[in-house]
Amino acid sequence: MPTAYRASIVHCLGDPGESGDSARYEYFVDGALVVDAGRVVAVGDATEVLGGRQDVEVVDHRGKLLMPGFIDCHVHFPQVDVIASYGDQLLEWLEDYAYPGEARYADADYARSAAEFFLDELLANGTTTAAVFATVHAHSAEALFEAASTRRMRLVAGKVLMDRNCPENLRDDAESAYADSKRLIERWHGNGRLGYAITPRFALTSTEAQLAAAGRLAGEHPDTWVHTHLAENDNEIAEVRKLYPWSPSYLDVYDHFGLLRERSLFAHCLHLGDADRRQLHEKRCSVAFCPTSNTFLGSGLFDLASMRDAQVRVGLATDVGGGTSLSMLRTMAEAYKVLQLGGQSLPASRALFLSTLGAAEALGLDRHIGNFLPGKEADFVVADPAATAIGARRDTQLETIEERLFALLTLGDDRHIVATYVDGRRVSG
Ligand code: GUN
Ligand code: ZN
Repeated sequence: MPTAYRASIVHCLGDPGESGDSARYEYFVDGALVVDAGRVVAVGDATEVLGGRQDVEVVDHRGKLLMPGFIDCHVHFPQVDVIASYGDQLLEWLEDYAYPGEARYADADYARSAAEFFLDELLANGTTTAAVFATVHAHSAEALFEAASTRRMRLVAGKVLMDRNCPENLRDDAESAYADSKRLIERWHGNGRLGYAITPRFALTSTEAQLAAAGRLAGEHPDTWVHTHLAENDNEIAEVRKLYPWSPSYLDVYDHFGLLRERSLFAHCLHLGDADRRQLHEKRCSVAFCPTSNTFLGSGLFDLASMRDAQVRVGLATDVGGGTSLSMLRTMAEAYKVLQLGGQSLPASRALFLSTLGAAEALGLDRHIGNFLPGKEADFVVADPAATAIGARRDTQLETIEERLFALLTLGDDRHIVATYVDGRRVSG
């Protein structure tokens, strides 16, 4: 029997843009989302959708806000151990915290329990899909895929490739990187809701031979993802220039090795020019905007307007542990502040887009997830803007959905996530 979830419902049909165009989202004050066998059947006003139907079971979330599950476009699962480490910029932070933390994942049991912890935290925060870096250890990616499979989550992940400029105990090499990734692709890519991302950490930690191996894999498996970092920090960019003096730009390093194509996903992209953005667009690449990380590591301010003007797909991302929260609500709030500092703005409806449909587009998954069009997979989240005392007080003053959503994302975190559903089943809350 189908199930109807009754609540206030909001979902995006397109990018509401900097003006928050209300034609790009739908809002039903008293709405119903009908789900059958893990798929969306219908969404709309409760009276219209439910009509005289007797053949549905109704789950009552009235007074709450029901939205598509959040999508985190870039996050490091082993960095749940080093989140909130004090005081460094990127390259020092990697040396001091990220690499020592990731070295613990040589222990497969440790990796397995961290993967379970990480995914349960995502779900508690209303995040139903993510693009995830594991560690250099193939078993860390195995552990994550196993845990995601148990939870029936749609997840994109990969083993990190790194064979220079990092601690010895975290190095693979070009051949083992290729062989391990290939084996993981064969085992996990397209297995249920899982997808594989070829994951060179960044240009600084791979030899040219390894980037070439990654490019070969990307060519042999065109429907996998390529997931890496780009132009995050000034010192990183200077080092890339030294290591690849022949390359006209940082982005061209990746292009040279065949890593720019549909389903290539670049985290950060703070220090780029118009030519880079054109290149990203022409090669159909996507970008992850990581606001809490960019402020925490002092990396810079993302230019959303220029990226969207260049028609590059952008999804929002936490980048934990450079980022400071797994909550996409907290991340939306920080995105708003980052854009304010850059003289731009972010209506709540666009923040929602960047965390749902826009993120699904950035991952090339919008056929499956991102909003409530009939036939899409039923991943959704129920939030309570009044879950905290200050939220409840503020909520009494609000009228429009833009206002209500904005207060929710500005004040919200996992306390506001009442329930998370994956594949039509309640998995958290
Ligand atoms: N660049 C290369 N590795 C990392 C990482 O782990 N975090 C961030 N924020 N940037 C990176
Ligand atoms: Zn990152």
